[in-house]
Amino acid sequence: MATDFTEETAADAVIGSFAPSTDPRLREILTSMVRHLHAFAREVELTLPEWNAAIDFFTRVGQKCDADRQEFILLSDVLGLSMLTETINNRKFGVATESTVLGPFHVVESPPLELGANIDHVGTGTPCVVTGRVASTDGAPLPGALIDVWQASDQGFYDVQQPGVQPRGNGRGLFTADDEGRFWFRTVVPSYYPIPTDGPVGELLIATGRHAFRPAHIHFIVTAPGHRDLTTHIFVAGSEYIESDTVFAVKKSLVADFTEETDPDLAASWDIKVPFRHADVEIIMQPAAS
Ligand code: BEZ
Ligand code: FE
Repeated sequence: MATDFTEETAADAVIGSFAPSTDPRLREILTSMVRHLHAFAREVELTLPEWNAAIDFFTRVGQKCDADRQEFILLSDVLGLSMLTETINNRKFGVATESTVLGPFHVVESPPLELGANIDHVGTGTPCVVTGRVASTDGAPLPGALIDVWQASDQGFYDVQQPGVQPRGNGRGLFTADDEGRFWFRTVVPSYYPIPTDGPVGELLIATGRHAFRPAHIHFIVTAPGHRDLTTHIFVAGSEYIESDTVFAVKKSLVADFTEETDPDLAASWDIKVPFRHADVEIIMQPAAS
């Protein structure tokens, strides 16, 4: 006898079609996805024009992707899925520094630099010193930890977005922590900036009355032997959009004061002009086994 398709039996019919040999984790994910997808279509009573509009939207998201542009990740970002997945997979244990999204602009290798180097090669913007210490959860310093940083300029653009305006490598540096796990570098205070809006994700933001901005931040990837790699940001306290990041990546523990300093001796010790800003960050790495 032929199977009779109904709204009630549809999900079971699809799930029942998976072969017994299906990989167990794939089966778990697809089973849940089909149940949620069908429940969603029933709940909103999805119309055929809406289904067609969704197919068209996802098609255009795919067509917008190339080697430098990942519109699907951007879609995941603005729907909060990237941060949810990040948070599920890096649950905060005790004192360890929280993680946040990688973002699409870690596209070139950061140049290895000496501690204290200036990653700003443009010369506009408010001078800034970032100091920090990398330690394990028990407080032991992690000498030799690698600190990869990248940031937007004071105008709110990454170097890769402004070829010919910013030199390649502007706002990027790869530093090695000293014997006490300390690091420091010079830069400018980054600006808030909009995520790319010239694709279907931009249309989605407009259709839902949302802005496209991220609050000012500096990205970090920190690695140390025996510890889990950490992908995170520090956010500039008081930045525009700190309460409404369009990719939902702000965690309170990652907001840092960029304090104004006017002491000329302090400025001289860091080879920077007054007034400047100073942010000090403590990075606590999770041991790999825990
Ligand atoms: C970023 O911070 O670079 C970023 C993160 C998610 C989407 C777009 C940009
Ligand atoms: Fe960013």
